[in-house]
Amino acid sequence: MKIIKSFLCFISFAVLFNPMAEANKAHHHEFIIQATKVKRLCETHNSITVNGMFPGPQLVINNGDTLVVKVINRARYNVTIHWHGVRQMRTGWADGPEFVTQCPIRPGSSYTYRFTIQGQEGTLWWHAHSSWLRATVYGSLLVLPPAGSSYPFPTPHRNVPLLLGEWWDANPVDVLRESIRTGAAPNISDAYTIDGQPGDLYKCSSQDTTIVPINVGETILLRVINSALNQPLFFTVANHKFTVVGADASYLKPFTTNVIVLGPGQTTDVLITGDQPPNRYYMAARAYQSAQNVPFGNTTTTAILQYKSAPCCIGGAKKGTSIKPIMPLLPAYNDTNTVTRFSQSFKSLRKAEVPTELDENLFITIGLGLNNCPKNFRSRRCQGLNGTRFTASMNNVSFALPSNYSLLQAHHHNIPGVFTTDFPAKPPVKFDYTGSNISRSLYQPDRGTKLYKLKYGSRVQIVLQDTGIVTPENHPIHLHGYDFYIVAEGFGNFNPKKDIRKFNLEDPPLRNTVGVPVNGWAVIRFVADNPGVWIMHCHLDAHISWGLAMAFLVENGKGLLETIEEPPADLPVC
Ligand code: C2O
Repeated sequence: MKIIKSFLCFISFAVLFNPMAEANKAHHHEFIIQATKVKRLCETHNSITVNGMFPGPQLVINNGDTLVVKVINRARYNVTIHWHGVRQMRTGWADGPEFVTQCPIRPGSSYTYRFTIQGQEGTLWWHAHSSWLRATVYGSLLVLPPAGSSYPFPTPHRNVPLLLGEWWDANPVDVLRESIRTGAAPNISDAYTIDGQPGDLYKCSSQDTTIVPINVGETILLRVINSALNQPLFFTVANHKFTVVGADASYLKPFTTNVIVLGPGQTTDVLITGDQPPNRYYMAARAYQSAQNVPFGNTTTTAILQYKSAPCCIGGAKKGTSIKPIMPLLPAYNDTNTVTRFSQSFKSLRKAEVPTELDENLFITIGLGLNNCPKNFRSRRCQGLNGTRFTASMNNVSFALPSNYSLLQAHHHNIPGVFTTDFPAKPPVKFDYTGSNISRSLYQPDRGTKLYKLKYGSRVQIVLQDTGIVTPENHPIHLHGYDFYIVAEGFGNFNPKKDIRKFNLEDPPLRNTVGVPVNGWAVIRFVADNPGVWIMHCHLDAHISWGLAMAFLVENGKGLLETIEEPPADLPVC
């Protein structure tokens, strides 16, 4: 009795005096995946959405909270949902990539994702991770500081998430299927969008252009998310400056700029202040295209930053009927210098805990490739360059997903024959990766489901090296289940002797997606403290289906807290 009493006393003490005790809430949501009529660019499509919304519902939680999302599939496609950037400590079953951590949720079935956000603050997002469904199945996930604590910068008046996207005047699933059939690159999109709207510069769009209201003197926190499938994007606002304060849900040392660039998957938090004459200003995004001679969409999507006291708008004048907004200048499509200057400004807010000793040092080439036309294929199935089929690889392995089990299930239940653990720690052949005369014999990778095994707690460095095979390109490389430090970036071939001088081991930025410079390299570091199977892939969806991916198998450590949880009872089976 006495023990119980003092235990109760301890509990009430904890509730009263631990500010975290009541802060850690669980948020329950239901996501119904369904076909919904969506009209854009004068045409109506039966788009796959969540709860009939496009973009999907915005989730707002505090750091430390738990999300419980029941996903009910009422569409005619398999689906999964990925919580992009959420670390999923010991909850890999909730990560979402199809055939990696789970089998797809079949039409008519459901699955409940359950996970806690720990130590991440800023902007994340969620998206479908099956076929090209994420073209319309995506939304923002804002992680606020824990209740009772604040931002490391003056509290903004408002939070405004802006989802940059891509719209096809077609069924995106068919666009992908067609490209798999022909071996050619998938068709480019017909519009870029901001919060699902192409904006004033596209046909049949101006009446629905996204409007962001602002008051004179007000500071708002824009949480910009690149949810486009295949295109890195520049983003700017006419006559206004940004103060960048975070990216991928980690804080940065603030710096100012008038343009930001995001690869698909990346997020950037910027403060913007209403310090200009009351008026209407375009917020605009358009392509950063690093690959030369490759088709891309050269149009511009716009939203409007509208001062509430602007002459047009007092009392809320009708959208689109009032004065023409001021248009900003955007960088040239191939302006890699602006991209470099921007990414070099990134520093962690505080001194970073970068591993200095290494247990694993991997060198991974990333790039495209061409498969010779198989003998039994007709020529219409080989419409890649010169009668080939496009492919892609990391260290010459083109990643193939299993179809009978997910990798995590196969690992957890010791099912043989689903994958191997021989992903190479370096490319099989050394060559001048960024040179202009790469031998054609290096264009055709092997296919495989090769994982790289990591011991729990190992300290890992990866050099990601772009290649010029087919074309060099800035690839946004995303690692699931982890944030990593980007300790250095550069152009040409990585040179360990010389380039080590560039390493920032003091305050490098912590991200989940790195834009590896075109014809260059990036070095990332992390500690493998999250057991499970984690895919690392290019976030250009066109490159995923070509195999620009690999996966890590992180073993369990000692004891419960270093071991992945048991799979949930409703985890889909294949
Ligand atoms: Cu946002 Cu595997 O991706």
